[in-house]
Amino acid sequence: MTEVDRLTLMDSEIDEIDGLLTEVAARHGAIDDTDFLLEAEKLAHGLPLRLRAFLATCRTLERPLFLVEGWPVGDTALGPTPRDWQAAWQHVGSSRANSNLRHQMLLVLVASLVGDPFALSSAQAGHLVNHIVPVAGTETYVSATSSTEELTWHTEEAGFRFRPDHLAFVCLRNPQQVPTTIGLVGDLVLDPGIEEVLRQPLFGMPQVGAEGRVEYAPVLYGTKDRPYLSADSVYMTPAPGDGAAAEALAVLSAAVDTALRPFVARPGDMYFLDNHQAVHGRPAFLPRYDGTDRWLLRVKIGRDLRASRAYRSGAGARVIVFDRLGCPESVG
Ligand SMILES: [Fe+2]
Repeated sequence: MTEVDRLTLMDSEIDEIDGLLTEVAARHGAIDDTDFLLEAEKLAHGLPLRLRAFLATCRTLERPLFLVEGWPVGDTALGPTPRDWQAAWQHVGSSRANSNLRHQMLLVLVASLVGDPFALSSAQAGHLVNHIVPVAGTETYVSATSSTEELTWHTEEAGFRFRPDHLAFVCLRNPQQVPTTIGLVGDLVLDPGIEEVLRQPLFGMPQVGAEGRVEYAPVLYGTKDRPYLSADSVYMTPAPGDGAAAEALAVLSAAVDTALRPFVARPGDMYFLDNHQAVHGRPAFLPRYDGTDRWLLRVKIGRDLRASRAYRSGAGARVIVFDRLGCPESVG
């Protein structure tokens, strides 16, 4: 099984980060401020050298799953887990929001060393940092806000031409130890004949921002010895009438199910998934809705944002703009 790369922060490094965040928070009041985003990468160079070196190495070597642990999250200062992402932004400017803001800022800074954090205007109102919490009324949705229904494994936005290259998370709270399930392409055991079929453009995904138009693409791509993967256990379909594609997709699904591992994040864990090498999901759990539920922050990261430049308002802008129909709206 592929090793998880991990770095445990030392006390002196935590102090260093703490000092940097105090400085940054004094200058930047909100995570979505253009000034903060333009400066994020530069500010990130003020993080401890060992942390920067770890992230740079994981990025360069394309490590599929890496973890920075030991960042302290004071549970009391956080306040209750918000009931949804809208509620999470209601306290901006309060001391509760400021405690949360530090974790958001740290996540954006570390993410800036892996690539360019970005957001979609259609998701959580374009906020760069997404709050992942169970939301009442969506328990059985195919969505990160679900709970009593399993969130089945998927590549993040497999049907989106600007899908993220990495996902970065920081765990704020997880008393029920609800895992993220992770399947790494390097752990899949597949027959060469099946691999060959999976490399053909025979697998359909409804395209995000294209009114559900289905496009056919390969599931596996990249080099033979270290393939990349883009797949979705719910929405992906084989080309109509193609028995070999249907069989290959069924075999892949079974192989991913076998390879899935539970990753239980603890408060303060910052973990990074390579969206070309890892699929992720979450088992069913019983939400409490009493302010103590699992609470993750997530940032999407691109390695090269030029492809989406026409859909962002400037080179430094980090939000891909969707129009009301859900289609990317060209702003260039
Ligand atoms: Fe996801």
